[in-house]
Amino acid sequence: MKLGWPIEIIGTGACLPEQVVTNDDLARLVDTTDEWIVQRTGIRERRRVAPGEATSDLATRAARQALEAANLAHEDIDLIIVATATPDHFLPSTACLVQSTLGCRWIPAFDMSAACSGFAYGLVVAAQHVVSGLCRTVLLIGAECLTTITDPIERGTCILFGDAAGAAVLRPASDASRGILAGRWGADGARGRLIWMPAGGSREPASVESIAARRHYMHMQGREVYKFAVTQMHDIVRQTCDDAGVSIDELALLIPHQSNLRIIESACDKLGLPMERVLVNIDRYGNTSAASVAVGLHEARSEGRVKSGDLVMLAAFGAGLTWASTLLRV
Ligand code: UT7
Repeated sequence: MKLGWPIEIIGTGACLPEQVVTNDDLARLVDTTDEWIVQRTGIRERRRVAPGEATSDLATRAARQALEAANLAHEDIDLIIVATATPDHFLPSTACLVQSTLGCRWIPAFDMSAACSGFAYGLVVAAQHVVSGLCRTVLLIGAECLTTITDPIERGTCILFGDAAGAAVLRPASDASRGILAGRWGADGARGRLIWMPAGGSREPASVESIAARRHYMHMQGREVYKFAVTQMHDIVRQTCDDAGVSIDELALLIPHQSNLRIIESACDKLGLPMERVLVNIDRYGNTSAASVAVGLHEARSEGRVKSGDLVMLAAFGAGLTWASTLLRV
């Protein structure tokens, strides 16, 4: 959909927990090898939170960095949105915890649940608050502690996921050419159980049996998700370019959800987009779900990979199944 929303991302931040978990570390716990993981996923290491550390801790650190980069103080924020599938608690929301820790005014704060598409979904919601005039300054955070819901002895998932947070501060655009030019977002709930956590919600509250059956961990049909992701990643990037009337060649950078290097390479190959114009950090962080695109955006800006006026595409997909893409002129 062509949008033309005049917003600007004026600051970004990221937080990666200190503990590094290498493929060899995992190979000591489950039947896998560094070679298999690198070949099949592109992941070499990921980060894990320390005991007692939670999603709001990472989110708050990323937010502080984003505010500093934007040259703003916590008093300037009018709304906080946290995209996460791994909140500190069911309630209150992680966004409310971040609001309190940052020392903000009594501004609205809420969480969004769209799994790995969370930050890209959040960008639409955050931008709408800015464009409508409801808020001037929105703090959007993608934050996850996926290692806390990943079964440490299930080799199909424990190798993939890591913990991280990324944050962005949005404001009305300083010049009308900047903003969100186009975007696509959608969901297919019928395929919801391809990636899910069976127990712990209202359908199957925690019980001794559910814990023993390891139903509080994420379960995933990896192959099926892979097939969906390869096609969807390609389709949403191409369709979003078409919506905006720009060619793939005009993209300065694609920041894709980091779920599997083979998914990214295959989609980019079909798009005819050279990998030099694609942000990849999956080797260092693995799949950090809602934080993934947010951390990528922060890295792209801090490494000088995007300059003013560039066209930057964000594209994500994940549990739900959900997907979202956003074409920005930064
Ligand atoms: O954020 C969005 C959500 N998730 C994704 O995007 C994940 C998408 N899916 C994937 O990235 C891939 O499907 C995986 C990386 C999860 C798995 O790779 P694959 O190439 O699809 O492997 P597979 O599931 O088809 O399994 C192939 C073989 C199996 O053995 P057999 O049955 O052929 O003997 C698995 O048991 O590889 C085995 N296997 C492993 N071997 C060593 C599965 N996991 C591992 C492992 N180490 N960690």
